[in-house]
Amino acid sequence: MPLITVSSFAKINWTLEVLSRLPNGYHELHTVFQTVDLCDELSFEITPSPDIHLSCNWPYLATDETNLIVRAAQALQRFGQVPQGVKIHATKRIPTGAGLGGGSSNAAVTLLALSQLWSVPATSADLQQLAEPLGADVPFFLYGGTALGTGRGDKIEPLPDVAPQLLLLVNPGMHVPTGEIFRKLSPQLTKPKTARILPAYFFPPKSDYLTHLCNDLELTVFETYPTIGLVRQKLLDSGATAARMSGSGATVFGVFADEAQRTQAATLLAQSGWQVWPCKTVNQAEYKESFKF
Ligand code: C5P
Repeated sequence: MPLITVSSFAKINWTLEVLSRLPNGYHELHTVFQTVDLCDELSFEITPSPDIHLSCNWPYLATDETNLIVRAAQALQRFGQVPQGVKIHATKRIPTGAGLGGGSSNAAVTLLALSQLWSVPATSADLQQLAEPLGADVPFFLYGGTALGTGRGDKIEPLPDVAPQLLLLVNPGMHVPTGEIFRKLSPQLTKPKTARILPAYFFPPKSDYLTHLCNDLELTVFETYPTIGLVRQKLLDSGATAARMSGSGATVFGVFADEAQRTQAATLLAQSGWQVWPCKTVNQAEYKESFKF
């Protein structure tokens, strides 16, 4: 069987509003997701025996059933009663636990790629059902581009594409425990309310949408990890037109109007020992293109 290689893109959150705390402990969100071209690569080789085998270029990353790639493949194999198996190799670049959705992206790409390679007649609704239990961010990566996430962030509505943007992702190398941050949110934030940002700025995107980016998790994260707040400030000081934390951090993204300024900012911020990734937005058509094989 030929080896098929697919890109697995990262995401940022243009906005992330917490609307309420749900009875199950999760939080109701309104978030605008955006795929960006920092990506992992997943290679798939279908095998006649039913085993699912994962290998990875990062030796410290678990490749057993705790990995979302393996869980996604198993869920699809069960759903489609697939007699074959697969060897998957992950070439990772997206930092883990960094608010960029790397693991969630890998899981969704596995569902999309294997449903084609194993010829599973799964509808979009079937894939959504398989994606939801794997994590709140997984359904978004079935779509890519710019999209609204409601519920736990797992009910997805594609939005019109924003104009291409130059970004700088910066990670100061710390791990933020997402569940703990949600639990620490102030009662004000978890009190039921309606969304502030949509649809006024993103549906369709208005020219000033960058002045309305938000992330309700920032204050709580910056209190516990002041360095992450400092990263945001340094991005703004070095010329970013907007800068926000992605998801629950620790990655912060800056939006830059021109490439020279972004290069200068990248050099400056890397001097603090922080990891930097220049990248750009990936729209829905570009995202879909990577699944044509
Ligand atoms: O779904 P995922 O595994 O990405 O979520 C990690 C943790 O973040 C959850 O266990 C939960 O504590 C918290 N979370 C939340 N509300 C959301 C998404 C995540 O409270 N909408």
